Amino acid sequence: MEPIGVLQGRKILLGVTGGIAAYKICTLASHLTQAGAEVDVVMTEAATRFVAPLTFQALTGRPVYTDLWSTPGPGLPTHIAHVGLAHSADLVVIAPATANTLAKLTHGLADNLLTTLALAATCPMLAVPAMDAGMWSNPATQANVETLRARGVHFAGPTRGRMASGLEGEGRMIEPEEILGHIRLILGRNGPLAGRRVVVTAGPTREFLDPVRFLSNPSSGCQGFALAQAALDRGARVTLIAGPTHLPTPVGVERVDVVSAQEMHDAVLEAVAEADVLLMAAAVADYRPEKTAPQKIKKGERDLTLHLTRTPDVLAAVAEQRTETGHPRVVVGFAAESQDLIENARAKMEAKGMDLIVANDVTAPDAGFGVETNQVVILDPQGGAQELPLMSKSAVAEAVLDRVVDLLSTATSSRRPAQKTTETQRAQRSPK
Ligand code: CTP
Repeated sequence: MEPIGVLQGRKILLGVTGGIAAYKICTLASHLTQAGAEVDVVMTEAATRFVAPLTFQALTGRPVYTDLWSTPGPGLPTHIAHVGLAHSADLVVIAPATANTLAKLTHGLADNLLTTLALAATCPMLAVPAMDAGMWSNPATQANVETLRARGVHFAGPTRGRMASGLEGEGRMIEPEEILGHIRLILGRNGPLAGRRVVVTAGPTREFLDPVRFLSNPSSGCQGFALAQAALDRGARVTLIAGPTHLPTPVGVERVDVVSAQEMHDAVLEAVAEADVLLMAAAVADYRPEKTAPQKIKKGERDLTLHLTRTPDVLAAVAEQRTETGHPRVVVGFAAESQDLIENARAKMEAKGMDLIVANDVTAPDAGFGVETNQVVILDPQGGAQELPLMSKSAVAEAVLDRVVDLLSTATSSRRPAQKTTETQRAQRSPK
């Protein structure tokens, strides 16, 4: 787990209660710590029967608190000595949250260190329930959840699945990665993009020849999904328009799945109508078969020639729409090049009226399609070139979003007169 900007130096009070899902919270504590958060774990007595406090202590590198009455040396009992933990926390996360602890929180009981600190805390709280399906669906629990929600407590899960009893049902805790997404969402919501709408495209498109064959490219969607997450981390409302990928949806995005370039075009034009930012990371196919056969094409003795026709250029269409609506205010494109990186990327930025272009040489080792890392240059129309070293796609996304925040905060960033129609006309006139 690499550092995550929105978690840097944030204080998280992680309350662990007594359920078998507590073992998964070890992974969460580890992820949060590695990502840069300061994690103070408070466990109920029941939780310590499932996982040893030492495990959390080793993972977070910090003391773990369990006992309301123990005195940490001469002086005050633990709950008084540590009430400061509750006051200084940026977020209280209770995971797993048992039915018993939810009931106590609802009624303001303070009968152990965790419930005492939770009652004293003034920061946001996230509860991650885990319990037997019958306990979850019980009207008592549901009423408690409703009351807590009404007081502003955030809930994540539970989900359906196999539970400790071996039965299937709703009550299973969501996975640590997903909990992490909820934590990022809460901690990021007042970030520099709060109130902004960001549209991100990701992944390849598929252009079908017949019902079982298509033209596509090896884009994994990783860079686009990382951009969506980085925008969420800064508080934006994010629509992620994704071609076919196997990536999990970042918690908090509105995801629109598309297949072809035409579908991507339609979805993007609709989504950007009121958006502030478009981050166009998708690897959109430039050509599609002129005809899609309704049935599987059978092989014959002779060679097969395919006639390809142009797909719509999404960015060019956005540029045209933008001249009328003023949305999106900031457009960022990507250039995947195998030669003359800077010149080709600058030409694309000009032609498609972008405010930034992220250029990467797809032939460079460890950069581009299908790998976790990327090496890019961010170019701007004023002639600037920000060369970034080889880094993770998440780190590239952070750098791009920082530039977007800067662009939105400078009034002059908004509309540049674009040579937008040029590209559209070029596209209509002749295939490239
Ligand atoms: N793009 C688009 N619509 C297309 C093709 C590409 O909006 N039909 C976008 C991509 O998402 C990217 C930018 O245009 O942000 C540049 O894409 P790229 O494939 O590098 O360039 P093309 O314009 O397609 O030019 P070429 O394939 O000739 O390099």
